[in-house]
Amino acid sequence: TEISSVKWKGKPLSEMYNLFDPECKQLHSIEPGRTHTVLFKVSTPYALGAIPEPYPENYSDRWDPEHVKMPCSPSNLYPISVNGNSTLEQRWKLIKEPFCGKQIRSSIELEKAILSYNSRYNNIWNFNRFHEFVDQKLTPNERKRFFDHILPGVIRLAIELPERVTGTPTLLTRNKSQSLSMSQSQISSLLANAFLSTYPRRNTQKRQSEFSTYPDINFIKLFENKSRSAAVYEKLKCLLNYFDRVITKGNQPSGVVTFTRQVVSDSEFPNWETASETFGGFHVSSEGTIEKEGIGLLQMDFANKFLGGGVLNWGCVQEEIRFVICPELIVGCLFSEVMESNEALVITGCEQYSCHSGYGDTFRFEGDFVDQTPRDAHGRRLCQVVAIDAIPFNRKETQYKKDSINRELRKAYAGFHCQRRIPLTAVATGNWGCGAFRGDPRLKCLIQLMAAAVTHRDVVYFTFGDNQLRDDVYNMYSLLVEKKATVGSLYTMLCDYGQQIGDSRSPSLDLYGYLYALLDSMDSEDGAADCSSSL
Ligand code: AR6
Repeated sequence: TEISSVKWKGKPLSEMYNLFDPECKQLHSIEPGRTHTVLFKVSTPYALGAIPEPYPENYSDRWDPEHVKMPCSPSNLYPISVNGNSTLEQRWKLIKEPFCGKQIRSSIELEKAILSYNSRYNNIWNFNRFHEFVDQKLTPNERKRFFDHILPGVIRLAIELPERVTGTPTLLTRNKSQSLSMSQSQISSLLANAFLSTYPRRNTQKRQSEFSTYPDINFIKLFENKSRSAAVYEKLKCLLNYFDRVITKGNQPSGVVTFTRQVVSDSEFPNWETASETFGGFHVSSEGTIEKEGIGLLQMDFANKFLGGGVLNWGCVQEEIRFVICPELIVGCLFSEVMESNEALVITGCEQYSCHSGYGDTFRFEGDFVDQTPRDAHGRRLCQVVAIDAIPFNRKETQYKKDSINRELRKAYAGFHCQRRIPLTAVATGNWGCGAFRGDPRLKCLIQLMAAAVTHRDVVYFTFGDNQLRDDVYNMYSLLVEKKATVGSLYTMLCDYGQQIGDSRSPSLDLYGYLYALLDSMDSEDGAADCSSSL
């Protein structure tokens, strides 16, 4: 039993500072203001089970560059043809029409309905995957539940948008630190509209189009998906399970979620070369996942710069999986502009609705998940996710260059830092940027340790089954600590390594071998400041 219990090394998980600590003050309070838009009436403390009331009382539309263009906006017009003449009609009226007073009984009928208010895409969109899903992948009982219960509920939620989301969500635009809070009930209505592909201006791929710097939000790509992967059907099952939950009486979530864009200005970044911090606590495990074992910690989303990555398309790796088991994250795609290198998106309060197994092509929906995570005084689940996008590397050696190291350090810093000087929860992370984005986990782990050291956070690292990686990064970490290496000294060593390997595609000099040679020659009393000249 001793051998099998040694799956992890370093500081025990139970000693990591987390959101459940009674002293923890990490979650900002929800105070509506210039940099925080709140779409519901704030009442603290949170009343268990009471769904927050929308704010303002009546629907108030903002059809401008700072806000989401709402499907129900009076300014949302759509061309229709009447007797051969083109005229503009209120799009919201067109959207409600096919659903009013009539039940949708087949996926073909749903396709017709969706195309009736997206007539421009009549011959462009196809719903083949969705038909296949409904006809072949759902059992007769599931199909019945979909048409009798889930779909009518989704339609209801979608059509109640102007009553549920009375304020227009602000866009979290580039280079502006700001937050947006909304109730889980509001999110469900916004997502129901995404399911029915009602969002205007969000279907074009054109480069200069109004929302070309925003992720996809309409679900159409998920329905017409061209990929053969079975994972798409499983993602749909997770999403239907979410809708089933939020439309079923007694089950509706009553909490709230905050989306925050964190921007770090040039002058706020540390000087990496001279950073004198040493390394903080480190827990590394070959077992466990960020979302499960990392509860209460700052949980990494290995993101795309377009939040959600391929969640509404064929993607099915870490980010997409997290987004389909916690679908409230998907609403972020509605208003989060593409991330710059000095920015991160932090989502506080999202809930898990589905269980899953597998990864990529083997991903499967494994039934309902009842999230028991406690809530804060505002009704947010004590769950915090940080989305930061790594650089996708086509050539392995690029990542060791100073520019790349700087970029990844800044990105991680943008995700981990907090302006207030309070104790911060540990980061729950792993092979960030090292799957789809092909980075080297041995380097990325050190980069994350450095960003965590300067932001005074511990690191919990899941190697996702890789024992060798666990041992390698732990041994490296131990030596860095033993030699009292600082962030600055490690930074210098990493940049020197990048220079030494030059443009070689398969460097004969391995990164950790190089670092060991330098660190071993170092006197532990000196710190590592001048070691680079010793090689
Ligand atoms: N917990 C811990 N580690 C994990 C988990 C998990 N739940 N899931 C995966 N890993 P990847 P990237 C490990 O490829 O390279 C998406 O499309 C596992 O070792 O998702 O940053 C985004 O939208 C895996 O190989 O992240 C981006 O477009 C590794 O983490 C793009 O992928 C990396 O996971 C980002 O790619």
